[in-house]
Amino acid sequence: MKKSDSRQPERESSGAESASTHRPIVAVYPGSFDPVTLGHEDIVRRTLRFCDRLVVGVAETATQPKGSLFPVAERLEMMREVFGGESRVECVSFSGLLVDFARDENARFIIRGLRAVSDFDYEFQMAQMNRELWDEVETIFLTPEVHYSFLSATLVREVAALGGDVSTFVSPLVLERLQQRSS
Ligand code: PNS
Repeated sequence: MKKSDSRQPERESSGAESASTHRPIVAVYPGSFDPVTLGHEDIVRRTLRFCDRLVVGVAETATQPKGSLFPVAERLEMMREVFGGESRVECVSFSGLLVDFARDENARFIIRGLRAVSDFDYEFQMAQMNRELWDEVETIFLTPEVHYSFLSATLVREVAALGGDVSTFVSPLVLERLQQRSS
């Protein structure tokens, strides 16, 4: 009896304290987004389940350059249209190091989508390097809905350029831009 009496007030006060001192959870979701796909949209939706504010960052410098289709400004335009209805999402571009971008945005979390084992080496290396560069940052990996687990912007670009149907992989406004590019 005595024991539980002494524990109870402690639990109550720490609970009230954490509720009143809740710091918004801010994350960055970096990538090339050339172009943004429904897989990326899925990861953003999932992140918003636990995040208060998400800054989606189009990198001007990619670790593995893949030959771009859309200039960064146009990728951003598409992303702002796609995520326009979500007030907690902001789309920006960034140059330089990802960890500096995250710090500037007051974000301690980096979100990355992990589709298959083949993604793992590259993602693991980046996460470890980013932690070396800034040990307060945590990389959070989210898996997309299974229908998007094989989807990549690289494949979307290639299939669209060769006249294939990518309408189930990108939003209509991105599809329109892809069609304009390949016509
Ligand atoms: O969608 P991508 O191309 O796989 O994204 C890669 C990205 C943009 C996350 C990565 O290239 C990156 O972080 N670029 C910023 C420069 C940087 O910080 N490089 C060191 C990474 S360990």
